[in-house]
Amino acid sequence: MSFDLVFFGGTGDLTWRKLMPALFQAFRHGKLPGGGRILAVARDDRSDGDYRAFIKERFSEVEPSKRPSDEEFARFAELLHYRRMDLSQPADYAGLKAWLDERGADTAVLYLATSPHLFPVICEQLGAAGLNGPKVRVVLEKPLGHDLASAQEINRVVRSVFTETQAFRIDHYLGKPSVQNLMALRFGNALFEPLWRRESIANIQITLAESLGVGTRGDFYDRTGALRDMIQNHALQLLTMIAMEPPSTNDADAIRDEKLKVLRSLKPFTAESVARDVVRGQYRAGTADGKKVPGYLEEVKVPAGSHCETFVALRTEVQNWRWAGVPFYLRTGKRLAARDAQIVVNFRPVPHPIFPGPTLANKLVIKLQPEDGLELHMLAAKGSGTSDALAPVSLDLDFDKAFPSDRVGAYERLLLDAIAGRLNLFVRSDEQEQAWRWVEPILDAWQRDGSSLKTYAAGSWGPAAASALVARDGCAWAEEQ
Ligand code: BG6
Repeated sequence: MSFDLVFFGGTGDLTWRKLMPALFQAFRHGKLPGGGRILAVARDDRSDGDYRAFIKERFSEVEPSKRPSDEEFARFAELLHYRRMDLSQPADYAGLKAWLDERGADTAVLYLATSPHLFPVICEQLGAAGLNGPKVRVVLEKPLGHDLASAQEINRVVRSVFTETQAFRIDHYLGKPSVQNLMALRFGNALFEPLWRRESIANIQITLAESLGVGTRGDFYDRTGALRDMIQNHALQLLTMIAMEPPSTNDADAIRDEKLKVLRSLKPFTAESVARDVVRGQYRAGTADGKKVPGYLEEVKVPAGSHCETFVALRTEVQNWRWAGVPFYLRTGKRLAARDAQIVVNFRPVPHPIFPGPTLANKLVIKLQPEDGLELHMLAAKGSGTSDALAPVSLDLDFDKAFPSDRVGAYERLLLDAIAGRLNLFVRSDEQEQAWRWVEPILDAWQRDGSSLKTYAAGSWGPAAASALVARDGCAWAEEQ
């Protein structure tokens, strides 16, 4: 199958930092279909040769095992092309169409890796130039909107030009192998499903912790904050996969229908419940990886006195028959104690303990990063001495060891899926809008009341209020258990 892959924003950070390295990995692994061309478009004048040299230089920043040798890069570079475009000029879109039509590949994937405020104008121009035929797919990078109204506006324009099956909305978490394993765990195995409900599960915790600060993205981040950056998309997508009903098939819409039902079942926030069930925090100076690091307000490009949250912890519920009354805790933050993304499913304790010593409920930990694995925590008899007291043990599964070769990174997987036209791992517009609808009361409440912002030291696990939030239900975060 021949394809053309066009990157709008072809010289931007996302393209050279994530997308080109991912494409190179696909190329190196022989997964990229033959007969492909990759076209970067941007504002400045460059030749194909200049662009190839630019990408080659940028590859020196990629981790060593993922860097091409000179010989590998020379072969990969043959796929790379560059075109200057002024995104407001219809003639430039006509030129792009002519370039694509000249070869007439089986599919053209147009990846909008630009600032999202350009999405409407690019889509409109693509439509006007006739670059929306059935062979065309458009990939939209997050953030898709700033709130419900702006997301709806982007979707309105996208829908006026493309059909829903042509629109590939990226949430890169869905491309992570560990996240796909979540689907496999639930729907490729019969073991857990009978227990996957309120009768057996006490609570579920989703943690997306980062040890890095905002780095040089202070201006972008300050307009965004942790709720929009991580909860509205990545954390909610994980929640839907944990809570959804089994889809009847593995087709994109069967899956996305079930995910949407979960989003619609989330307990709506009110001003009172935001005050009670949502903790927002901002980091202060502290220590990360043994080094002193500045607080958020001292980071470059962060406005003085900013109230932007770099941490969120919240409690919600999925209001349906399966999950009624089970707390779902979501937590994310920058400059936390570790880079650690995991989902902890805390089961209920045994109903009638017969062994001496503390009873400990079973816990399933789905580890997303840095390792990709599963841990099942249980109690067992040690078999030593005469005591009947049980000891905690865990069954550990490390997917990198179980499948040592052939592991595909998130962007690599999503780019290959977009080329192949598989929508399963992309977000549908109604899911995305429902997620905005759910977070909006939190944004509104914060807008009205700036006083709820808590602080935490860089290198800690966030404000004390986050521990209090779960302690209220008699629970603790994984690192406190
Ligand atoms: C992005 C956010 O979507 O996800 C970043 O904009 C965040 O702020 C990143 O750092 C985290 O992704 P990952 O794959 O490193 O966990």
